[in-house]
Amino acid sequence: MQGNNIARQEASRTASVPLSIQNATLKFGGVTALNDVSIEVRDDELLAIIGPNGAGKTSLLNVTAGFYRPQQGRVEMSGRDITGLRVDQVASLGVARTFQGTHLFAGQTVIENILVGRHMLMKSNVVQAFVHFGWVAREETSHREVVEEIIDFLEIEPIRNRPVGTLGYGLRKRVDLGRALAQEPNILLMDEPMAGMNSEEKEDLARFILDVREARNIPVVLVEHDMGVVMDLADRVVVLDFGQVIADGTPEEVQNDPAVIKAYLGA
Ligand SMILES: Nc1ncnc2c1ncn2[C@@H]1O[C@H](COP(=O)(O)OP(=O)(O)OP(=O)(O)O)[C@@H](O)[C@H]1O
Ligand SMILES: [Mg+2]
Repeated sequence: MQGNNIARQEASRTASVPLSIQNATLKFGGVTALNDVSIEVRDDELLAIIGPNGAGKTSLLNVTAGFYRPQQGRVEMSGRDITGLRVDQVASLGVARTFQGTHLFAGQTVIENILVGRHMLMKSNVVQAFVHFGWVAREETSHREVVEEIIDFLEIEPIRNRPVGTLGYGLRKRVDLGRALAQEPNILLMDEPMAGMNSEEKEDLARFILDVREARNIPVVLVEHDMGVVMDLADRVVVLDFGQVIADGTPEEVQNDPAVIKAYLGA
């Protein structure tokens, strides 16, 4: 009886964890990118992932978003096993990400790039476009409305029709965030969005990240090198080194952890 209760409590506890990576191991030939990594992302938290170059930070996001399937372990969203689902399937469950570097279409406008984020959610295809033209037109309009809201929210109205290739790095990363938001995510993964930004651009993006979390009530997983940003924004920090979790705690705890200082901060 008591065993049943414990099992039920355990099940509801797991179900309320938006994202859980359990004992994930990912290898590329002889390179172990992730070595038995377990991380839980809690409701509405801003979780920072830090660690030296090659520590496995991007690999962790890739495994979560379905870019790679871990050889061992599993990924769960709200208690549902999503290990091995395709990128588009994971995206349609509400996982959105921004990429390290720039992955936008340089020749396309800001609006067009943000509309790419809607692509995953679009039900219409060419055949339906001929059969149910009115319905498709309505759907297209609703996508436009969502995109307009995002443009408003990110304060990029003046550049909406500019090709992304003509924008500075800070604005490009804001558009990348817009593309991710167009997926109406339940969880947002960001891979070093502030790398290469000046301090003003960093402050701007930090404000938008906090606003996103507040407006949508979603957890954000932020891979970030800048410890100042991490200390300011993160509720919790997980430190990776050589594919393993070496620390998990509040920013203060992690900053004072001797293993973290040795592996990362001291360098
Ligand atoms: N597609 C791949 N093929 C082969 N090796 C890979 C691949 N992706 C990652 N790796 C290797 O896995 C390890 C972890 O890489 P990963 O990109 O996850 O690190 P990272 O923490 O994101 O580093 P950085 O801070 O430089 O972005 C590295 O040794 C890397 O060379
Ligand atoms: Mg990386």
